[in-house]
Amino acid sequence: MKNITVIGSGTMGNGIAHTFALHGYSVSLVDLNEQALTKAIDIIQRNLDRQISKSKLTENEKIATLNNITTFTDLKGAVAEADLVIEAATENEAVKSRLFNELDDLCADATILASNTSSISITQLASNTKRPDKVIGMHFMNPVPIMQLVEVIRGYRTSEAVTNTIFTLAAKLQKTPVIVQDYPGFIANRILMPMINEAIYSLYEGVAGVMEIDTVMKLGMAHPMGPLQLADFIGLDVCLAILKVLHEGFGNSKYAPCPLLTNMVAAGHLGKKSTIGFYDYRQSDAKELIVASRFSNSRF
Ligand code: NAI
Repeated sequence: MKNITVIGSGTMGNGIAHTFALHGYSVSLVDLNEQALTKAIDIIQRNLDRQISKSKLTENEKIATLNNITTFTDLKGAVAEADLVIEAATENEAVKSRLFNELDDLCADATILASNTSSISITQLASNTKRPDKVIGMHFMNPVPIMQLVEVIRGYRTSEAVTNTIFTLAAKLQKTPVIVQDYPGFIANRILMPMINEAIYSLYEGVAGVMEIDTVMKLGMAHPMGPLQLADFIGLDVCLAILKVLHEGFGNSKYAPCPLLTNMVAAGHLGKKSTIGFYDYRQSDAKELIVASRFSNSRF
């Protein structure tokens, strides 16, 4: 494994590219347009600078990491040499299915096709290819350079050899891989998303305000951040997409997305990436201000 192609340079794609490049892999980073790629490289640069300021990285390592990343808008060129492709495009089954179909045609026979999907069936994605044994889930956590876990999702037809290769690769990135089977939401989001949805329902029903809900879970349950802030960091559109997959996949109403979440996504309040979610991130000093105050319990 030397050449890694990452498709999608958003929240996750730029973190995955950063992590592989830092560990000496040659990374081809793909997105639909130059603007997205320029933004991604800028974010990677800032994150590397943060690692330098914490004495976790040297200036030379930063330069080497950036030199290991090449950007592309053309998929064919980006996958020409790929040993492994990690798809981190928008959480939408149609988009991913189309990509897997195209990748199967463009990539060498030996190339492993992985998806960073939060919830979409790996088996379903694999069915768009003629290599279902070489399709696997490699689910990184946000922020990728910092978070330890990689959920390795074994599709119905993923081979033992490919599972072992991805497991070993994750360990080489100094991550801790965990192998799980391919059912909606896998393990991470099957457990996390109902909690986030319940926090949003609690807000929607006026049981407590944003700050109160997050404080209860931080101080009461020793979570490093509250569920509403975490939802903002994940992206509310991503949370909604995952809940829809869980709801449909299990056919159980307990996963039905809260109407407030649906409304916020429709309004374009997607969390940190759009600068407003449950908190306001427009301040340059990143001091969060609660914007969902009309849902605060002060009205009771
Ligand atoms: P995002 O919305 O920040 O970025 C997605 C990127 O993919 C965008 O830049 C978009 O232009 C690009 N894209 C869409 N279609 C494309 C195509 N056909 N070719 C190339 N690029 C394309 O999304 P985010 O949050 O990075 O999520 C990506 C994947 O990672 C999703 O499957 C999501 O479920 C998963 N994920 C997200 C986490 C999070 O905390 N946001 C955590 C773990 C997994």
